[in-house]
Amino acid sequence: MKERVLEEFKKIFGGEGDIRAYFAPGRVNLIGEHTDYNGGHVFPCALTIGTYGVARKREDNKLRFYSMNFEEVGIIESSLDDLKPYKEADWTNYPKGVMWAFGEKGMKVEKGMDILLCGNIPNGSGLSSSASVEVLTGTILRDMFGFDVSNQDLALIGQFSENKFNGVNCGIMDQFAIAMGKKDNAIFLDTATLKFEYAPIKLQNAKIVISCSNKKRGLGDSKYNERRSECEDALAKIQQYVGINSLGDLTEEQFEQCKDAIKDETKEKRARHAVYENQRTIKAVEALKNNDIEKFGKLMIASHESLRDDYEVTGIELDTLVEEALKINGVIGSRMTGAGFGGCTVSIVKDEAVDEFIEKVGKAYKEKIGYAADFYVVEVGDGPSRL
Ligand code: GLA
Repeated sequence: MKERVLEEFKKIFGGEGDIRAYFAPGRVNLIGEHTDYNGGHVFPCALTIGTYGVARKREDNKLRFYSMNFEEVGIIESSLDDLKPYKEADWTNYPKGVMWAFGEKGMKVEKGMDILLCGNIPNGSGLSSSASVEVLTGTILRDMFGFDVSNQDLALIGQFSENKFNGVNCGIMDQFAIAMGKKDNAIFLDTATLKFEYAPIKLQNAKIVISCSNKKRGLGDSKYNERRSECEDALAKIQQYVGINSLGDLTEEQFEQCKDAIKDETKEKRARHAVYENQRTIKAVEALKNNDIEKFGKLMIASHESLRDDYEVTGIELDTLVEEALKINGVIGSRMTGAGFGGCTVSIVKDEAVDEFIEKVGKAYKEKIGYAADFYVVEVGDGPSRL
């Protein structure tokens, strides 16, 4: 892949100068969904698929971007003097947002750049292709301009750019999972404190299978921001009675005792999901540590049900994928992953059942939904790197 992207860069932008290649992974969240902006826990891991990037500094202020995933669009030009989001700028709003964010944090990008990207994460699938591009851009800027930032800083800068430049109020999970990824480990992260620990993914003869619904979703035009503010409203109501900082501070019992303060059925459901999902995540990691993969799987299923019934972010495509998955012997757990409203599910499937899973779930999905799903057997990989 490195050779391929380097060669393409030279073809598009010319071969002179200091040309460097990089990689940042995508991520999948195993459990802990819509908890990261509610002060709860998440349990994602970085993948071995992700975004490759090639970059070179320029002598002027120009920015030239090219994506091998959108060849028909060609080179998109911009300038360091105009780091603002534009609809026509398309995907380049992500790297531009990160350049802007570095500037806001006192690390001004002083030279223009030529940047080529090539991703092997399906776009808009819920495997965080955008956060991958953000962390990749941060990795490029750190290496080429010598900025003194840690991988955790790269995650925070990526989130800041997504919130303030691209207008999506996402939490920290995606950028953190990508920037801090570690091969064969998931990251148990407390989003309230950013304390985290790595937990080895020992799946005992099972694989992580991603089923991509192919229903496209963009966080910006989804109901993501709406869910977030529903939770904030519920929290504000509860805070009139109990001194908590976030919904993640509550146990299930405490929530049941104070939920009447919310006085809005929908917001109560949203808050219930946030509280119970956080507790499920803590229990799931405990189960994994005890090698109780069956329990882990059951908690994944409960997570999906809560996202479907209380948080209402699944939809017929994701529900069908999970329903059909659970009909297969050898499926330990299955749930939607990421923001929802389309995107992917993640399933843990015993080795011997993987082929049957792909065949049967694929067939049933196509019959019911009318178009095909895609399946990926994925591996847990490391964070970003220079290649
Ligand atoms: C998106 C956001 C994350 C997180 C998930 C839902 O992926 O970027 O911050 O909120 O949705 O768990």
